[in-house]
Amino acid sequence: MSIPTAGQAETEQCAQNQVVGDHEVYNPHGKENAMTEPLMVQKSPYPVVVEAGQRYWWCACGRSQTQPFCDGSHQGSGFEPVEYQARKSGTVYFCGCKRTGNQPLCDGTHATL
Ligand code: FES
Repeated sequence: MSIPTAGQAETEQCAQNQVVGDHEVYNPHGKENAMTEPLMVQKSPYPVVVEAGQRYWWCACGRSQTQPFCDGSHQGSGFEPVEYQARKSGTVYFCGCKRTGNQPLCDGTHATL
């Protein structure tokens, strides 16, 4: 077993970073994926046709590849998905910037970013 040089160790650490969409999540130790704020996926809401009585899990971290819903990518991020249960069928607007004050729905915050 050889001892990695500083350059090798750095390369290995960088390999632990996670690329999500156009973003790379800095992960210096390759163990924790804790984030201080969510990734901004887009500066507009996601219109989604929901069904009355159905439950949906909105991605709060911004890492999911199945936006606006959770795909489990939040593990270790410090964020958890937010449940939404539709009371009636129709179109709702899920937050895309991940900074709404009315999770999981858009409150217009994206217009201020
Ligand atoms: S993937 Fe973002 S909250 Fe689950």
